[in-house]
Amino acid sequence: MQLSEPLTRAYNAQVKLEFESSFVYLQMGADLELRSLPGFSRWMRLQAAEEHGHAMKFIDFVLSRGGRLELQALEKPAPTPGTVVEVFEAALRHEQRVTKAIHDLYAQALEERDFASLPLLQWFVNEQTEEEATVSQILERLRMVGEDRTGLLFLDRELGQRQAGGGGAAGDGGEAAEAAG
Ligand code: FEO
Repeated sequence: MQLSEPLTRAYNAQVKLEFESSFVYLQMGADLELRSLPGFSRWMRLQAAEEHGHAMKFIDFVLSRGGRLELQALEKPAPTPGTVVEVFEAALRHEQRVTKAIHDLYAQALEERDFASLPLLQWFVNEQTEEEATVSQILERLRMVGEDRTGLLFLDRELGQRQAGGGGAAGDGGEAAEAAG
């Protein structure tokens, strides 16, 4: 069954949001690099790559369903906040916005009885739970550290250990996912 026009439009909007997410993290990562925080920067850069992957996953799905990809102009990322805590607060707000968009998409697919969309969207629902949990956990730890420079450098080293494909504070994302579930 071919994707309906309204659902194709909604998927194209989601592709835009995922590419914007990639830009948001790339900008944050670049700015953290300039603030001599290479670990936080690496984490953000890998997150940017993951968001790019999310956009591609939606694109592949649209095409596999005979829908037309229509790329949109992207919003410029907001200026990166001044403190690392504020950066991660902004990241969490961003992920909450993405979660809402995914849930809206899920509701629309259900309403249209487009059942072929559901496995993909369920994957994204789970992914968002994990991403929000990971960012929340990092944020909590940043708040614990507060103004302590040594603690900040410790977290920088830890986040710098993130491997491609993982979102967790120490790299694999499992810890945060467990904490959330
Ligand atoms: Fe692809 Fe972080 O939302």
